[in-house]
Amino acid sequence: MKKVTIQTLRKMREAGERIAMLTCYDATFAKLFDQAGLDVLLVGDSLGMVVQGHETTLPVTLDEMIYHCRAVARATRRAHVVGDLPFGSYQVSAEDAVRSAVRLVAEGGAESVKLEGGRDFVDVVRAIVRASVPVMGHLGLTPQSFHKLGGYVVQGRGPEQARRLVEDALALQEAGCYAIVLEAIPAELAGEITGKLSVPTIGIGAGAGCSGQVLVCYDMLGLDPSFQPRFVKRFAELGESTRAAASSYVAEVRGGAFPTAAQSFESQEIRLVEGAGKSE
Ligand code: KIV
Repeated sequence: MKKVTIQTLRKMREAGERIAMLTCYDATFAKLFDQAGLDVLLVGDSLGMVVQGHETTLPVTLDEMIYHCRAVARATRRAHVVGDLPFGSYQVSAEDAVRSAVRLVAEGGAESVKLEGGRDFVDVVRAIVRASVPVMGHLGLTPQSFHKLGGYVVQGRGPEQARRLVEDALALQEAGCYAIVLEAIPAELAGEITGKLSVPTIGIGAGAGCSGQVLVCYDMLGLDPSFQPRFVKRFAELGESTRAAASSYVAEVRGGAFPTAAQSFESQEIRLVEGAGKSE
């Protein structure tokens, strides 16, 4: 199986083949997504919200990102693994940023890193790329700027904001980004940016005109039935089915229906769990 690299992604963009990317935070999902043919797995700092239960992505640490990257990288054979640089790990200085990026690659097994921000971060992007770590940019609604933006608000709405976003995208490309995420911006603007760049754009809430799409995996799997933003399509209802499965389990344990003889061992059996620890 051929590994997806940043060169593969560039070729896909040139050939007009759409790039499929999902966030991923652990080995179980990584294995499933990889087998399903995802091109890119993003170990996003959105794990601060969907895995850790925070209100924003801001409290996520670099050590936590490394931990989750390692789990995803370990179970991924084909997809390109991107590690998000968390808040505070690249904003202070380019030197700091390089150190953080190198840790995500060396300790976490990430194959590239993603960071949020435009023109203010071109020096940081250059420094990380110079250290041989590929960088994915992220523009538009940048969740680490939650307080600056005043919440999770659609970006690039007026002509001035739109012009700045186009300039930021070109600046990131010029600084060496191999791809750029465009989050929560009007579809027309995302299409315009995509047309002006030679590197792929990956949209989330940015319409169909990008070179690829990304969603938070918990959102597209419907793991939180109460969360239904407009840009998310649910491809499954795992929240409802997980709750129903857990309720059945509770009922069967309480009622004595589980376990039956089929789930119990005879005293002479030595092989405790068939298939446990078996990997393909
Ligand atoms: O952290 C994340 O999940 C992201 C995606 C929404 C692009 O940055």
